[in-house]
Amino acid sequence: MTTSEAAPLPRENMGQPLARVDGRLKVMGRANYPADIPVNNLAHGLLVASGIARGRVQELHLDEAHAVKGVLDILTHDHIRGELEPPEFGTSGSSSIGPLHDDKIWHDGQIIALVIAETIEAAREAAMRITVDYKEEQPSTSFGSEGTETVAASEVSQQFKEDVKAGDFETAFDAAEVKIDVEYGMPTHHHNPIEMFSTTAYWQGEELTVHEPTQNVYGWKVEIARQLKIEPDRVRVISPYIGGAFGSKGPITPRTAIVALAARRLGRPVRCVVTRSQSFTTQTYRAETRHHIQMAAARDGRITAFKHEGWEVTSRPDPYVVGGTKTTGRLYNYGSVLTKVFLVKTDRPTPSYMRAPAETPYIYALENAMDEMAVALNMDPVEFRRVNDASQDAIEGKPFSSRSLMQCYDEAASEFGWSKRNPQVGSMRDGDWLIGMGCATAVHPANVAPCAVRITLRDDGHARVQTASHEIGTGVQTVAAQLAAEHLGLHPSMVQVEMGDTRLPPAPVTGGSSTTASVCSAIIKACEEIREKLARAAVTANDGPLAGRDPASVLLKNGRLVAADASQALKDVFKHVGSGVIEQYTEFRPDGASPDAVSNLYQGKMEMVSGEKGDMIKYAFGAEFVEVRIHRRTREIRVPRVVGAFSGGRIMNTRTARSQLMGGMIWGISSALHEATEFDWRSARVVNRDLQDYLVPVNADIQDVKVILVPETDTHVNLAGVKGLGELGNVGTAAAIASAVHHATGKRIRELPIRIDNLLG
Ligand code: MOS
Repeated sequence: MTTSEAAPLPRENMGQPLARVDGRLKVMGRANYPADIPVNNLAHGLLVASGIARGRVQELHLDEAHAVKGVLDILTHDHIRGELEPPEFGTSGSSSIGPLHDDKIWHDGQIIALVIAETIEAAREAAMRITVDYKEEQPSTSFGSEGTETVAASEVSQQFKEDVKAGDFETAFDAAEVKIDVEYGMPTHHHNPIEMFSTTAYWQGEELTVHEPTQNVYGWKVEIARQLKIEPDRVRVISPYIGGAFGSKGPITPRTAIVALAARRLGRPVRCVVTRSQSFTTQTYRAETRHHIQMAAARDGRITAFKHEGWEVTSRPDPYVVGGTKTTGRLYNYGSVLTKVFLVKTDRPTPSYMRAPAETPYIYALENAMDEMAVALNMDPVEFRRVNDASQDAIEGKPFSSRSLMQCYDEAASEFGWSKRNPQVGSMRDGDWLIGMGCATAVHPANVAPCAVRITLRDDGHARVQTASHEIGTGVQTVAAQLAAEHLGLHPSMVQVEMGDTRLPPAPVTGGSSTTASVCSAIIKACEEIREKLARAAVTANDGPLAGRDPASVLLKNGRLVAADASQALKDVFKHVGSGVIEQYTEFRPDGASPDAVSNLYQGKMEMVSGEKGDMIKYAFGAEFVEVRIHRRTREIRVPRVVGAFSGGRIMNTRTARSQLMGGMIWGISSALHEATEFDWRSARVVNRDLQDYLVPVNADIQDVKVILVPETDTHVNLAGVKGLGELGNVGTAAAIASAVHHATGKRIRELPIRIDNLLG
């Protein structure tokens, strides 16, 4: 195996950088994404979205649309009422807002009709000919708009029940020598995966098949069935490849059941691809957040008081909570902690998950404050974090299962050359470019969830791993093949992996960076059960080289069952078993999950054991360092270098791990300098609803991004020893950049994104 920067040499407790098993298919264009699946006699659906953010649909004028050649059907609220159960706010349902269930409009761009036609072109022409009479009301756009309602998150949320706190913040803050009192803001971010959002639905008799990119096939199957008022076992959801998820394909969409209903009405398959601009209003998004932080420290740098208040935009009906205080409140060894999260109800769609939903905005605020505090103390920001590093959490006093934060800082600082930084603001220059350097902590809970897997091992040494998990680009199929091969003693090319189909044993939602931990734990358990079956058969046999051995002492290696001084080929061991195949169905239930956690999976209910639950705090950590260069005259901002060092327990595959972490940091650069959904404050409508105006970085924006994998062994987190890396890299980057901008210019920009105009004057 060749190694390169893309395929880092494994260090201790790290797996080989096996190339992606689906890589070739993908680059050849042969991996069929859900909207690519060929379907006979397909009709094409196009959504029609509202042009107002609040009010009612008085009348939809459809005659001209129906007159377009090729139009088959137009569904409006007159057709849906009573046909579908309304969606519910919760784990598989992103929002209780059920478009077409009545005439009410809750937000800009809400679905108000679905046009079905023989061709996409006909559907588009018909959609454009629909005119709407609205009864419009004045919407509230965001924080500070008239008509919003602010509520305490812990009072209205089923998920977020507690504002964490410890000690006496007020007294400690009042008594402290050095204090800061600051506010930060992160704007709305919208998901823009390369793969467009889509639903393809068809019925065979009473059986419904849905092809749709999703991170939660079982959850969707059950929710689609509930909305259509049919038995879940009548619904099959298929999603083998997903082209960018990051949370956007986690909660079920408001469109899916409507498209299925359209297919049933027409008696033919319907495919609906959401346009890029419609995805800004019919898909979920990262809530806009505001943060108020008060921090106090003694002159020696020890933090004595930390307060974090968050305000988060949500929709009128649904109390979606971002709630990152459970992480910020535990990150350092604060003397006292006070937190509070508020929801601000506006006329917007319900927000939902986006990569490290809680940590990205909340740690952005905390890590900025850490840098401001280090400056106030005249301390090196790395040393300031070292002084406040914690061995137990500040809220409940529980130990961390492992915490390699300062190792990450040390390795990243050394690679970055932090010691060459002159701490004096504005002191570093290269010609016309002002140089700034900053750093920040990355942190994410090590979540794990129940998972079922079926592993089939044949006597010819071929194996198949089946689980209804999802390949959202993380490399889970590769890691599954690699791990099963390792434990079954096979070459990875002998292992076939199937995922993304509700006909397979259930896996949890692919979210919360829990997939590798959950799927790998189930695979390890299943492989051990297979090994045990083979070992028992071989050692209890009347003859054969392994007869009479201790079954615990034999392992699967190189297609053989191996003891210290003897071995037997798999083919011969299977003769003792008396069959040519072992089909092992195994359920993994993590510590802390309920006894019926796996049966709940079959019901589409997710049960994630999050990192702060249990006797220990389980978090993955990292440290990110950035260099920014700001042009003296134009104030153009560049990021020539980013170095991140991360510890995540067992690293299953250094190539896919690096790729996840690198991608996370690139998105971090994006949130620091590029991304923001802009609203027209009068109408609560999205202004920049395409990739021309919604800025994301391009290759020219991204230069040197280096990932260091820091060895760590953690036997507490789960059977696989994996903490999860999918979201970690994205946390902290924006704060490191904001700190570097301050270092270069002396300007502390507390509202993202940081743009040229913030740095003028
Ligand atoms: Mo992720 S935001 O947990 O898909």
